[in-house]
Amino acid sequence: MASALPKDGKLVCCDVSEEWTDIACRYWKEAGILQRIELHLAPALETLDGLLRGDGAGSFDFAFIDADKSNYDAYYEACLDLLRTGGVVALDNMLWGGEVADPDVHDRDTDALRALNAKIRDDKRVDACLMTVGDGVMVARKRA
Ligand SMILES: C[S@@+](CC[C@H](N)C(=O)[O-])C[C@H]1O[C@@H](n2cnc3c(N)ncnc32)[C@H](O)[C@@H]1O
Repeated sequence: MASALPKDGKLVCCDVSEEWTDIACRYWKEAGILQRIELHLAPALETLDGLLRGDGAGSFDFAFIDADKSNYDAYYEACLDLLRTGGVVALDNMLWGGEVADPDVHDRDTDALRALNAKIRDDKRVDACLMTVGDGVMVARKRA
């Protein structure tokens, strides 16, 4: 994503793992894109809240959600606020290995993802499509 940005573009990354993002930083540097990436090491909800108070609503073009599944709905709401009209949010793992389609599976993550799939399907604020690539990527475009 950072490689596809224009020179003055910025990718804001949220994570809580210093260990894993240290590895990422090594490769961002090697790829020459470190200066386009702003890493926030904190629970993503805190970072997103800070971005809403700072850059403000409507200030982002794109968001990609791929962290703890039980918070996906809260991330979706925060990202939708941060996106401009026409902006796109993508959510990974929305098929969850097929478990969301199995009515017998009930655990915190599966229930959260199943409910969010249904919510986005009916969400009039977006045009959305669940792509059956990998583990399922939901792509939702913010409407006017
Ligand atoms: C499946 S990995 C995806 C990482 C990245 N999107 C990628 O493709 O390389 C999930 C990441 O979510 C992070 N994570 C888990 N809970 C989080 C939270 N509450 N806030 C921010 N990041 C979190 C983990 O540390 C982990 O790096």
